[in-house]
Amino acid sequence: MGETFARTTALDAAFHMHTYARKPVMFVRGSGMRLYDDDGREYLDFTSGIGVVNLGHAHPAVAAAVSAQMERLVHVSNLFYVEHRDELAERLVGLFGGDARVFFSNSGAEANEGAIKLARRWGKARHGETCTKIVTAERSFHGRTLATLAATGQPSKQEAFEPLPAGFVHVPLNDLAALAEALTDDVCAVLLEPIQGEGGVFPCTHEYLTGARRLCDERGILLMFDEVQTGFFRTGAAFAWQGYGVRPDVMTLAKGMANGMPIGAVLAQCDVADAFQPGDHGSTFGGGPVVCAAALATIDALEEGRLGENAGRVGAYLREGLEGLAAATGAITEVRGCGLMVGITLNRPVAVAAAASALESGVVMLSVGDSILRFLPPLVCSTAEVDTLLGILSAAIGDS
Ligand SMILES: Cc1ncc(COP(=O)(O)O)c(C=O)c1O
Repeated sequence: MGETFARTTALDAAFHMHTYARKPVMFVRGSGMRLYDDDGREYLDFTSGIGVVNLGHAHPAVAAAVSAQMERLVHVSNLFYVEHRDELAERLVGLFGGDARVFFSNSGAEANEGAIKLARRWGKARHGETCTKIVTAERSFHGRTLATLAATGQPSKQEAFEPLPAGFVHVPLNDLAALAEALTDDVCAVLLEPIQGEGGVFPCTHEYLTGARRLCDERGILLMFDEVQTGFFRTGAAFAWQGYGVRPDVMTLAKGMANGMPIGAVLAQCDVADAFQPGDHGSTFGGGPVVCAAALATIDALEEGRLGENAGRVGAYLREGLEGLAAATGAITEVRGCGLMVGITLNRPVAVAAAASALESGVVMLSVGDSILRFLPPLVCSTAEVDTLLGILSAAIGDS
C-alpha cells in the first residue's frame, strides 16, 4: 500500500460525508476492460463503474471529442443554441424510433425526476387534476433524490428519509393481476426498469411487459421505462425494450450515454413531451456542449464496434459459464440477465466476501445484499476475459 493511497484514505475519512463504503483500492488509470491501481497492479473490470463505461475505460474517441470541445467552448446555458446538443437529440430520437422529443439532465435520478414531472403534467392535462399517481415495482431503483427515492421500491433505502413525496404505489414485479389492480383512476403512469439492476438483476418477463403495455393503453396512461442502466447496448439492443418488442411512451437514460461523462435524458413521444411548456423544467448543466460531444462520440463508437452484438454473444457465453459453475459447485442457485447485465444468487450469504476475495485476485465485481453478485463489464469484454472471471469467481465462492 503506497503513501499516496494512505494519504487519500485519510483525507477521505476526514473530509467526506460517510455515504459510501469504499473498497481498499485506488484506481489511477484504465484502458478497455482493465483498471490499474496506484501500485501499477492490473484488474479486470466486471462493473464498468456500475454500467457506465460501456466502451471500456479511457476510450480515445471520447477523450478526443471532450478535449476538442473543452478547448472551444465549455458552457453558456440552455438559453442559447450550442453545438452537438441538437445533433445528439436527433441521434437519440433516431435510436428510439418514431416522433419523440428529448430533455437533457445530468444523471439518471434527474432524468427520472423529469419523467415524473412530465407524467404528472400530462396526467393532469389529460385526465384531470387528481391524475398524478405513478406505479412502480417492488425492489426497483430509480435514484436517490426525494421523488426518485419515493419511486424506488426498496423500503430499506427510504425509511430514514421519510416523509417522502406522495403519489407512488409499488407492486410486485411480473404480477400482471397486481398491476391491473393498482391502476386506479388517479394513476397517470407506470414506471418500470425492463431489467431491474440495483435490485439484483431481475428481468421483467415478456408477458409482463406486453401486458403492462396493454393495460396502459386500455386505461389511456403512460408506460415509462427507466433504461438508465439497461440502455446503450448493454443488453444487446440499443435499449432493452427493443429486445422485448414493447415500446414505451417515455424512456429515461443516463449511465452509458457518454462513457463516464455525466449526462442523462428523458425521451417522450411528441404528444406526451408537449405537455411541458417553457418554464416547466430546466437544468443549468444539462445538455452542455462537452457532454453532448462525448455522448455523440460514444454512440458512434458503440455502433461502429457493433458492441451490442458483442454484448449479446459474450453475455450468452458468460451465462452459460455461470450455469456450468452452478452445476459443478452447487453454490449458485440462479443465473439471470440479458447481454452483459448478469446476476447470480448464491446459496449462502457470502456475496460481499466473494467480491472482496475476487478483488484481491484482480477481478472487480459488484455484490447486492448478502447473496447476489452482479457482472456489468464494458461491452468490449471477450470470452477469454469471461474465462478469467469464471476461474477467479469459482475460487472466490469456494473460499468465502
Ligand atoms: C435503473 C436506474 N435508474 C436510476 C438510477 C440513478 O442514476 P444516477 O445515480 O445517475 O442518479 C440508477 C443508478 O444506479 C439506475 O440503475
